[in-house]
Amino acid sequence: MKKTDLTVQLLLSEIKNKQILEAACGRAEFTSSASVYAQSVSCIDLDSSKLSCTKRDNIHFEVMDAARMRFPDETFDTVFLYNALSHVHSQWEMIHEECRRVLKPCGSIYIIATWKMDITLMKALFGGQAERYGEFYIWRERYG
Ligand SMILES: C[S@@+](CC[C@H](N)C(=O)[O-])C[C@H]1O[C@@H](n2cnc3c(N)ncnc32)[C@H](O)[C@@H]1O
Repeated sequence: MKKTDLTVQLLLSEIKNKQILEAACGRAEFTSSASVYAQSVSCIDLDSSKLSCTKRDNIHFEVMDAARMRFPDETFDTVFLYNALSHVHSQWEMIHEECRRVLKPCGSIYIIATWKMDITLMKALFGGQAERYGEFYIWRERYG
C-alpha cells in the first residue's frame, strides 16, 4: 500500500465525506488517495508543473499561495499539509493563519511528515505535540 493510502486510512474519519484541502500539494499524491473517500478535495500549490494526480471529478487543483488563499472563510472540514513543512516553514505563521481562516468551525489542521527533514522540523516546531504513528509523524490542531 502507498504511504499516502496508509495515511488516509489512519485519518479516515477526518476525510470520509468531508470537504478537504491539501495545501502545497506538489504531485498531489495525498489528494489522489484522499479523493477516494472525500466529498471533495481542493489542492493548491505555487507550481502546477509537478501535478500528476489521478483525475477525479471531486479533485479541484488551483495554483495558489497557501499564505494568501483565495478561498472564503470556513470552506473546509479538514486541511492537510503532507510532506510540505520544510518547503513552507519560512511562511508557516501566515499559512497557519490562512488554514485557520478557511477551516469550518470544529475543523482540524493536520501536518503529516514521513521525510526525515520534515520530521526534524516538526519536532523542532511542535515538540511533543507531534505524534508518531509508525513511520508517520502527525501534528494536529482542532478548533471548536
Ligand atoms: C515537497 S513539495 C511537495 C509536497 C507534496 N505534498 C508531496 O507529498 O509531494 C512542497 C511543495 O510546496 C510548494 N509550496 C511552497 N511554498 C508554497 C506556498 N506558499 N503555497 C503553496 N505551495 C507552496 C512547492 O511548490 C512544492 O510543490
